Amino acid sequence: MTDLDELLSRAQSELAASSDEAALRAWHKRYLHKPAGEVEVAVRAVSSVPGDKRKEYGQKANQVKTALTQAYEQALDAEKEKALEASLAATPLDVTLPGRTPAVGRLHPSTQALRRIAGIFAEMGFQIFRSREVEDDELNFGLLNMPAHHPARDMWDTLYTTTPGVLLRTHTSPGQIHVMRQVCPKPIRVILPGMCYRKEQVTTRHEMMFNQVEGLAVGERITLADLKGTLLTFARRMFGPDRQIRIRSSYFPFTEPSIEVDVDWPRDDPNCDRLTKGTGWLEIAGAGMVHPTVLRNGGYDPAKFSGFAFGMGVERTVMLLHAIDDIRQFWRNDLRFLRQF
Ligand code: FA5
Repeated sequence: MTDLDELLSRAQSELAASSDEAALRAWHKRYLHKPAGEVEVAVRAVSSVPGDKRKEYGQKANQVKTALTQAYEQALDAEKEKALEASLAATPLDVTLPGRTPAVGRLHPSTQALRRIAGIFAEMGFQIFRSREVEDDELNFGLLNMPAHHPARDMWDTLYTTTPGVLLRTHTSPGQIHVMRQVCPKPIRVILPGMCYRKEQVTTRHEMMFNQVEGLAVGERITLADLKGTLLTFARRMFGPDRQIRIRSSYFPFTEPSIEVDVDWPRDDPNCDRLTKGTGWLEIAGAGMVHPTVLRNGGYDPAKFSGFAFGMGVERTVMLLHAIDDIRQFWRNDLRFLRQF
């Protein structure tokens, strides 16, 4: 205990004698630095104090440490303040100089596009529904008409977690089941935006993580014509009246019939051939009429209800809007790219 008193008063008087920041830092190293500072050593010494004195010693050591830490911080603040004042006095401020404009942050192009897409669908009466990025195998595949070992699972290169049956969603489609189960038996008109993950071979058009916007409408008289009308209306508003849209037939286990939607790449862009493999078209979405099995898994009777669904790539949409020639730009954090939006 006497040692602690001696340590406290020695440290206090040395602190008072430290006349600049360097001296203060040297003081800190001597007394408070972990693990070899004297105070730290004294605190740890509690383990060698005999049992009946240990509590008292421990409390006292902690008090010494707290008192010295506070005194050090105060002294350091005061020293910094003094240094600032000295530097202001030595180099007077020219208050007539123009200020430095702070760099203004902005929304990522994907976020901007997501908001625009949500706005267009909101005008068509679609509400936003959020669903999770870490999914069960059952929702990502099973309930979407792809039981275990179904060959169509190979359409998505999946990133599994270390927990069996838990994965990073490969598409926003599992959200369809979440919405249906929550809303059944009422009609549905929602979009589900969010990030998807795939163990992709990264190319100019394929990333490992990308945003999709899923769309789902379920009702008593929904037809393929409604899907086509919705997608065309969206494309006209998003890309303008002059862009061409192409609908091809396709296959997804969770829709029947299934289609894919392409948008024409600006012809005069020199990257057109490279990005569209010479076709002039870039795929933005998969879609179709919700498969009866999926409707049933969501709680709806397919004899009474029908529905359409689509899943579109958000980064692909931005690429088409601005003729961006490489999807890898989106997550590269290159300010020269990001500042253009
Ligand atoms: C799907 O993911 C289906 N779930 C879409 C769907 C939803 C079909 C509802 C029917 C009903 P696909 O794997 O084709 O399908 O991806 C859909 C869109 O996501 C693509 O058209 C593309 O725009 C975008 N996309 C897919 N993979 C990538 C990737 N690796 N990088 C960037 N965008 C991608």
